[in-house]
Amino acid sequence: MNKSYQTEALKPADTSASATHENRVCIIGCGRVGMASAYALIQSSFLRELVLVGRSQEQTEGEVMDLEHAVAVPMKPPVKIINGDYAEAARSSIVVVTAGEATSGPDESRLDLLSKNAVIVRDIVGKLKAEGFAGILVMASNPVDILAQIAQEVSGLPAGQVIGTGTLVDTARLRGLLAEELGIEPRAVDAYIIGEHGDSEIAVWSGARVAGVELGRYPGAQALPDYGDILDRVRRAAPEVVKRKGHTAYAIGLCVQRICEAVLRNERAVLAVSTLLQGEYGIEGVYLGTPCVVGKNGVERVIELDLDAGEREGMQASGNLLKSMRQDLAEQERA
Ligand code: 2OP
Repeated sequence: MNKSYQTEALKPADTSASATHENRVCIIGCGRVGMASAYALIQSSFLRELVLVGRSQEQTEGEVMDLEHAVAVPMKPPVKIINGDYAEAARSSIVVVTAGEATSGPDESRLDLLSKNAVIVRDIVGKLKAEGFAGILVMASNPVDILAQIAQEVSGLPAGQVIGTGTLVDTARLRGLLAEELGIEPRAVDAYIIGEHGDSEIAVWSGARVAGVELGRYPGAQALPDYGDILDRVRRAAPEVVKRKGHTAYAIGLCVQRICEAVLRNERAVLAVSTLLQGEYGIEGVYLGTPCVVGKNGVERVIELDLDAGEREGMQASGNLLKSMRQDLAEQERA
């Protein structure tokens, strides 16, 4: 071919071991949350390659085969599915970590999983670091806020590049509940759950709007259940599912897909993810859920909502709880 016509697009792809594959997502952990995330991801138009890294080689091979059959269904551009190792994982734009123990019953809190899952996350992120991973790390393992903070410290990546799924799923649950009560679609509800992805999370009622109208003035709002009861239903949503089917997966799987989509499409989407607070809400040095602008560089801006006094107190209590849990873990690990 005449050299002058050789365009950038025709240059052979860089297949060197260190090249990052654009639009490649890797999921480490092929359990129920990992596979729900994988199933959501293969239905996205932005994904080109999906790497699975699982504990059991054979089970992971089966998941890869099942997904390969799925992407062959003539519905969308194909996705290459790879039964990968940490070298392949490190060449991904995004690595999602869903590995770890999950709550085994409705009475076990996510925080109860901390010491076991901290060991698993340290091991995984240490291996990624050794392979030179420099992309976006999305943490979904629980307790997600503390594990995202540990992952950020172990990885040495900038805080914006390490994102916890945070209160994205809780915010979805709140919006779904309010939408159901008010007879409107969830996307018309602009309301947030912030703080710990767990029992100390809070709802920002003071800033909640429905179709641009203050929640309290929206038609039908007077008949809403007590706001405290609604928040309890959001906090108990996952344990109620776990009580009936033993785990949750679909909602958190779609949250993982949504975060990856916002990153790979550089959407600058506003998502309630877990990020390192550095003074927002008067809180320093702890990962908590809050609305963030998410784009190709991960969390590109942390949004500090206006809170009333009670909400600010609740947010700070949530931060203090996670800080003390983190200190307890550090003491355990030193012992
Ligand atoms: C949830 O709330 C798994 O913590 C996750 O569904």
